Amino acid sequence: MALLEVSDLVVHYGKALALDGVSLSVAAGELVAVLGPNGAGKSTLLKAISRAVPMSRGHIGFDGQSLDPLPAHKVVAAGICHCPEGRRLFPELSVLKNLQLGAYLRDDKDGIAADLARVWGLFPVLRERSRQQASTLSGGEQQMLAIGRALMGKPKLLLLDEPSVGIAHRLKLEIFESIRQIQRDGTAILLVEQDALSALGIAGRVYLMEHGRIACEGTSDALAHDDYIRQVYLGV
Ligand SMILES: Nc1ncnc2c1ncn2[C@@H]1O[C@H](COP(=O)(O)OP(=O)(O)OP(=O)(O)O)[C@@H](O)[C@H]1O
Ligand SMILES: [Mg+2]
Repeated sequence: MALLEVSDLVVHYGKALALDGVSLSVAAGELVAVLGPNGAGKSTLLKAISRAVPMSRGHIGFDGQSLDPLPAHKVVAAGICHCPEGRRLFPELSVLKNLQLGAYLRDDKDGIAADLARVWGLFPVLRERSRQQASTLSGGEQQMLAIGRALMGKPKLLLLDEPSVGIAHRLKLEIFESIRQIQRDGTAILLVEQDALSALGIAGRVYLMEHGRIACEGTSDALAHDDYIRQVYLGV
């Protein structure tokens, strides 16, 4: 059975239709990417899963329970952490404090300490800068902090919204390598990404979104060899 099962999800902003019957699934430990042009509804999909926007219709099942009646903090408690577009850090607070706030629903001290050690291992630069204000980090380092903070919630499923946007090439490679490592360590990931080539390189399966719908889906290998995808998304 899938870890995350989204079926026929419809979301409106006022009268405007943003998601028009989206269905997708993510298995435990799987890395799935969602690609698509600006305005396709990718961020809205992640927001609907984490209950940051209300759904008009559809069903979201996670880890054997229905998320439909749950408020956002219960979704976090169920095991879904969202690393949103624009990162949403607490800029005045230190790196360490931002990470600790990611564990706000937990009281297992030893587990929190172990996860902090995991974040330091994934992103050593954050440890070096643990006392620094988050606002003073570079864009790439802030993205690492946003991912680290989401990991401090001990998710079974991590929702990542465009982790590589606006980041220097070297840090981008590092971030994609960390995402791969997070999956290897057993966390499932639903990754929204503009950089189709990088996403196809690390995801097992891919969904393509256009105009609020899933236009096609397949394994990364199959889509990387699809003529339409190559022309429109890879520019080759
Ligand atoms: N808060 C909002 N109020 C009204 N309309 C919105 C709101 N947020 C998004 N939309 C609209 O919903 C549609 C889907 O937006 P969404 O942000 O999900 O797209 P996206 O695929 O993430 O795009 P991008 O690649 O640019 O991040 C767009 O037409 C957008 O203008
Ligand atoms: Mg978006």
